[in-house]
Order: sequence, then structure tokens, then C-alpha cells
Amino acid sequence: MMFCENRSDKLSEIHSDIRGPLYTRAMQMQARGTQVLKLNSGNPATYGFTMPQSVREALLQSVDNAVGYCDLRGMPQARQAILDYHRKKGIAGIGMDDIYLGNGVSELACICLEALLSFGHEVLVPSPGYSLWSNGARLAGAKPVFYRCDEHSDWYPDAGDIRRKITPKTRAIVIINPNNPTGALYPRQVLESLIQIAREHHLVIFSDEIYDRLVLDGKPHISTASLAEDVPIVTLNGLSKSHCICGFRCGWMVLSGPRDDSRGFREGIFELAAMRLCSNALTQLVVPAALEDSQSTNAMLVPGGRLYEQRRATVQELRKIPGIHFVENSAAFYLFPWMDPTQFRIPQDNTFARELLEEKHILLVPGNGFDWHTPGFFRLVMLPQAQQLRQAVQALGDLLDRYRITPTPVPVSQLPRAAGE
Ligand SMILES: Cc1ncc(COP(=O)(O)O)c(C=O)c1O
Repeated sequence: MMFCENRSDKLSEIHSDIRGPLYTRAMQMQARGTQVLKLNSGNPATYGFTMPQSVREALLQSVDNAVGYCDLRGMPQARQAILDYHRKKGIAGIGMDDIYLGNGVSELACICLEALLSFGHEVLVPSPGYSLWSNGARLAGAKPVFYRCDEHSDWYPDAGDIRRKITPKTRAIVIINPNNPTGALYPRQVLESLIQIAREHHLVIFSDEIYDRLVLDGKPHISTASLAEDVPIVTLNGLSKSHCICGFRCGWMVLSGPRDDSRGFREGIFELAAMRLCSNALTQLVVPAALEDSQSTNAMLVPGGRLYEQRRATVQELRKIPGIHFVENSAAFYLFPWMDPTQFRIPQDNTFARELLEEKHILLVPGNGFDWHTPGFFRLVMLPQAQQLRQAVQALGDLLDRYRITPTPVPVSQLPRAAGE
């Protein structure tokens, strides 16, 4: 018998397609000298976004103050700034002990799922959705049950579908708002309907709000937890996107709602946080400066700002491709377009994304990477410069032509007659 021939059974359904087989192939191509445009990952640093000056200064000033392990929940200065931020967003009844810093939302999502779920439990997760949550649920021994977000209703969650999927085993509902991969921003009524479901069925809400500061067009972001004090809600957020510092691994979560009802869950979180000692202390110390500095984030979102202009360029070019549909994103830097099945022969697998990589040297993630199994959908990451995005969308349009259903030729007898004929 070999030592470790097989990987763990727990991983059988885990998938991370943003860095999956197509990504591996792209890396091979790059190693052989082919330049690949990576529209697969939401990592602003790859595309020349730099950290704000406020963050750089705070980091340099802090180097000597973060040498040891810190409090398992996080440094008090960081937690105070996070507490102030979320109180201003309307979350009531929270204190310093309700805040945990982590090595990104990624780590904290796994901690809170692990703390809540036992084997056989079910968690409602959005489809399409960022696969951290479905993967995390599986690793925690639970089953992700996908609820539909509807492309014909601005990608909002379908409350009816959620209700139909609740069973006695359901323990939680995940909300990703603003959403990855759709860029949708949920209005108050949508959030209220999800909260009502959680209330009726005693579900914990995990509200991933990492894109809350990246809202375009002056729209407000409403924090789920600001709408309900009587439901246990974990709000997750961090600096990866708003301050373009994914590599710092700096995220946090805020526990709100009734304490007595969620004592066991809270104890579980405390134990898991203790087990990993603490999160990166140095990057925690940039949190106060970063949350003070909304200016550098906002500058990306207004006309002339990169995220605004990059979206404009992408949307303009996509509109030129007949048969491609999409809902313009209200937040973040993602679009989740789809091919009209009446106009394209849609390949049932990832052929189209593979051809795009091999022939046009563009890497993107097909819809199934986001737990969405209707073929013909894909995510575009609008982080490269506007001009590069225009060219990429044009190249995409060229490639898609090969899947176009040729219009049925009109018999000559039915052609309109030219004047005078
Ligand atoms: C919805 C969502 N949540 C969480 C993360 C990961 O965040 P972090 O860098 O804080 O781990 C991402 C990254 O793309 C994301 O899109």
C-alpha cells in the first residue's frame, strides 16, 4: 500500500475553479512564454492596483507592535475600529467581544461554519455563488443546498426557492451581498424577506459583505444585521478588495443577534479561534487607518476612477455582441453574462473557456465554478485597464461566433423585392 495515494474523502466535492485546471493550464502556457490575460481572479494587485498611502503608513508605523501573538479575537485597536464601522452601518447591540479578526474572510467562513454545523446538517448557499461557502460547508461535514439567484430578477435570491429547500436539517443561510460572481446589490425588501425566512425557521445568517465598500452609482449598501436584532447573524468583511490588499489576509466577523440562543455557537467560535492562536497581527494594525480612509476606495468608483471606467468599457463592448445577455453589476468588479440558447449552440462542458484560453490567451471561470450548472454562463473580472478589457471582450465575441446558430436561410421566393423589381 502506498503512503498517501488517495486524498481525503472529504474533498471529493470540493472545487476551487478560480485556481483550478484551466488556471493550471494557463500557468503552463505562461511558463512557456505565452502572455495570458487572467480574468479569473478578483485580485486587484495583479492588475496594478496598489495599497492606499494610508495603509502603507500605518503598516510601517506598526512593525514593532505586532511581533507577538495577540488576543485570539484580535488587537483591541482593530476591533474598536471595526466596531465603530459596523455600528455606523446600523448594527445594534454589539460590543468588542463580538468581533473576531481572521486571516481573511476565507478563514473566518470556515471557522463559523465549523462552529455551527454537525454531520448531516444543511446550509443554504447561493447559486451562483463564491464557492468558499459551499466548500466550507462540506468540510464542516454538512451539505450545501443551493438556492437560486434569478438572472431575470437582477440576480436577486429567489425566496420561494429558499423556502422549498428548507428541511429539518437546515441550520443556516449564506447571503453574499454584494454578490460574487453577479455583482448584484440587494435592496432592503430582499434582505428582509431572507431575514424573515431565517426568523421563522431558526436559521443563523452568514452575511458575506466583503464588497460593501465597492458599491457603484452612489447606491447604499444595507448590512443584513442592521435590519434584525432578533436573528443570529455573522457579518463578514475585510480589506482584501476595498483596499486592494488581498495578500495581507485581513478580514473580520461580527456576531450579532440574541446571545442566549447562540451560546454554544459562540463558544465554538471562541474555541476554534483559540486553536489557531490569532490572526496576522501586523495587518490588523492597518485596520483603523484603512477604515478611516474611505476616500481611496471611493476614488475607484466614480467617473474617471478605475472600477467605474473598467465597467463602462466592458459593458459597452459586451452590448455589441448579439445574443450575450448580462445584468450590469451594481457593485464589486464582476459580471456574470450568458449566451442566449436561441442564438448559440452552447457547449455542455467548459470547451468554450478552454478554447478562449488556448486560442485567445484569456482565462476566465465558467459558470460551474460558481455552483451554477446551466451551461453558457461565465464570470468576467473587470480589473484590467479599460482598453485591455475592450480588447478581451472583442476577442471573446470573435470566439463566440463559432458557436452561433447560423440563421436559417430565407428561401429566395420569400426575400423582400427591391423597389422597381
Ligand atoms: C464573496 C467573497 N468572500 C470572501 C472572499 C475572500 O476574502 P478574503 O481575501 O478576505 O479571504 C472573496 C474573494 O474573492 C469573495 O469574493
